Amino acid sequence: MQANLPPTSPMPALLQTIGWWLRPLGFMEKMRARYGTPFTMKLSGQGNFVVLTDPADIRALLTAPPEVLHPGEGAALLEPVVGPNSVILLDEGRHMEQRKLMLPAFHGDRMQRLTGLMAELTDRELDRWPLDQPVELHERLQALTLEIILRAVFGLDEGPRLDRLRELMPQILTFGESPVSLMPPLQRLMRGRGRFGRFERDRAQADVELYALIEERRQEGAGERDDILSMLLGARHSDGSPMADVEIRDELMTALVAGHETTASSLSFSFEQLARSPEVTERLASDDDAYLDATINEVLRRRPVLLIPEPRLVKQPFEVGGITYEPGVVLTAGAYLVHHDPAIYPDPYAFKPERFLERKPGTYTFLPFGGGRRRCLGASFAQLEMRIVLREAARRFTVSAAGPRTAPARRMITITPGDGARVVLHARRKARTDSGTKTSSRPASQAKVPSSGVVTSPEPIINARAASTASVIGLTSAND
Ligand code: HEM
Repeated sequence: MQANLPPTSPMPALLQTIGWWLRPLGFMEKMRARYGTPFTMKLSGQGNFVVLTDPADIRALLTAPPEVLHPGEGAALLEPVVGPNSVILLDEGRHMEQRKLMLPAFHGDRMQRLTGLMAELTDRELDRWPLDQPVELHERLQALTLEIILRAVFGLDEGPRLDRLRELMPQILTFGESPVSLMPPLQRLMRGRGRFGRFERDRAQADVELYALIEERRQEGAGERDDILSMLLGARHSDGSPMADVEIRDELMTALVAGHETTASSLSFSFEQLARSPEVTERLASDDDAYLDATINEVLRRRPVLLIPEPRLVKQPFEVGGITYEPGVVLTAGAYLVHHDPAIYPDPYAFKPERFLERKPGTYTFLPFGGGRRRCLGASFAQLEMRIVLREAARRFTVSAAGPRTAPARRMITITPGDGARVVLHARRKARTDSGTKTSSRPASQAKVPSSGVVTSPEPIINARAASTASVIGLTSAND
């Protein structure tokens, strides 16, 4: 084992893993406060994770040659869902080849063509949101982001196949909630059994539908469709050959895994924040596009749903920040910590969209979508979707808090609002498509966003279970 790693806690790996798992924000903040950066997290079954936070180090990390660092290897646990051809699992030449096939489909200009469909699905979902009573928006936003992916990425039309996949996909995605999902050797042991067996049966049924869809669309030939599947059907490998059915299937599933929960949680955090920032909601209701984008950036800064982008496994000795890391160590960018560094973002715990009106997000200081040659392929897709949903919601509703702020909870590898984004919506005025009643806007919650700017976490605790574990492992922070 490498001797000169950055400092780590004396806590055994198991307790560090529990801290990282149950209370990830507090754990990272505490590590930074006690040991400085970079620091090392010892994670059971996953090895030594070195967390980098210096923008120059992050630049070196994200631009390292592909044979030196392997992000794909570290994501192997996703293989049962996404399949072996997934861009997320590959490294070096195969990764680049697959990424090139997908890039045009996700290009920003191309995304604009999906605006109409996204707006229609958003209207349909928002029409159903109840008013003047507490509502947990997270599950509704999950339904919306799933529908948008099935229609805009998978290219499904209304009908029995869409109905079937709408039911199967959430079941398949719960795979990630079981501990088996975290350990590939356990996955092999559990084949055909228990919850994993159920997952395999659901996946087989979904695959039948997906291969039938791909076949039908190949028969149909090139049409006028704007969905991602159409683009993938038209994509060509460097030798001119089309993508195989299994490659297309794997990349569709990759978009689902990478884009569903991430977007739903980012939107959920947006509403959690709007409930505490009435002035922001007011401004979003006007047609100020620059402010809308700044607000989305600020949500993604304050609540990056992936606290760290894909961890990079060192394959060849790699020097960064004066330390040469040996093969086997895992390096990662501490996105959440960078986003809450007062030297980079003054008053970092305050929610201030204006900061992104004053300056553009920095390539190595704004990391919700990671960076370099692994940067999120769906970033433009997700930003477009967030723009459409937030603008329409702000036009229709004012938002107030339904209770005290809770800390984010972990959901697989992402974080999500601990209370499911429980808010109260009030009708603002006649909506674009429905017959909502015209009412005056009501002041939103009095809850205040902390604005300390000091590097101790003002994050609230998650829940009793997490709090007691946190105290057992000595991780309660000043504000707990
Ligand atoms: C707000 C929503 C989203 C967030 C915060 C997010 C974040 C991320 C992050 C942090 C990475 C890893 C980047 C790295 O390690 O450098 C990633 C990769 C990826 N994301 Fe997203 N994502 C979002 C939405 C989406 C959507 C909607 C899609 C597709 C429809 C998508 C597709 C992908 C793919 C394919 C990759 C793998 C790229 C590669 O390995 O080359 N993401 N995303």
